[in-house]
Amino acid sequence: MDYKIETERLVLAPFIDADIGRRVELANDVDVARMVTSMPHPYTRKDAVDWVTKHDAGRAAGTDFPFAITLKGEGLVGAVGLHKKEGPAFELGYWIGRPYWGMGIASDAAKAVVDWAVNARKITTIVACYFEDNPASCRVLEKVGFVHDGTEGNCHSIGRGEKARSLNMIWRDNNA
Ligand SMILES: CC(C)(COP(=O)(O)OP(=O)(O)OC[C@H]1O[C@@H](n2cnc3c(N)ncnc32)[C@H](O)[C@@H]1OP(=O)(O)O)[C@@H](O)C(=O)NCCC(=O)NCCS
Repeated sequence: MDYKIETERLVLAPFIDADIGRRVELANDVDVARMVTSMPHPYTRKDAVDWVTKHDAGRAAGTDFPFAITLKGEGLVGAVGLHKKEGPAFELGYWIGRPYWGMGIASDAAKAVVDWAVNARKITTIVACYFEDNPASCRVLEKVGFVHDGTEGNCHSIGRGEKARSLNMIWRDNNA
């Protein structure tokens, strides 16, 4: 399954081999790795190749929809994706390379993927979680329409090498 989302300044599409160099450059940042659960640090070319190699199977199974985030005129700036959870829900995850923080890119990309999920995949429930020391991610989710579901977790982050308190948020399609 192929897909592409275009916004005024972003293109969101499956990762291709040509993205790997920039992915390694931007993802190899402990302040990115610490805020997500499954990104090794240091982040190597092998990590990126192994990760991208799994994508076709996830897409074919309908369980994983990863998008490379490309800023027009600039190149790859991060990643956003949906991963199937139990029941009807998918989980939203994302990261942006440090040079591009604070430009509204995560908010634009997350909003575009939520719209795509509803329209192209008929997904009605999306969950997300963020570590409590990551208020910027909470704000991104709020801007897209997520609300806290009242639960929390204690998730392991490979980048931290330990567990940390996380807060859970949910988005529901009000028209479903
Ligand atoms: C968190 C992250 C995705 C934000 O990406 P971004 O493109 O800079 O986000 P945006 O510019 O779209 O929005 C950030 C919002 O957080 C706000 N913000 C930034 N730092 C903040 C802080 N310390 N406290 C509260 N809000 C903060 C910004 O003001 C902005 O909100 P606004 O538009 O209302 O002003 C990015 O920093 C990142 O990739 N971090 C590492 C990986 C990560 O955290 N992934 C998410 C895991 S849940």
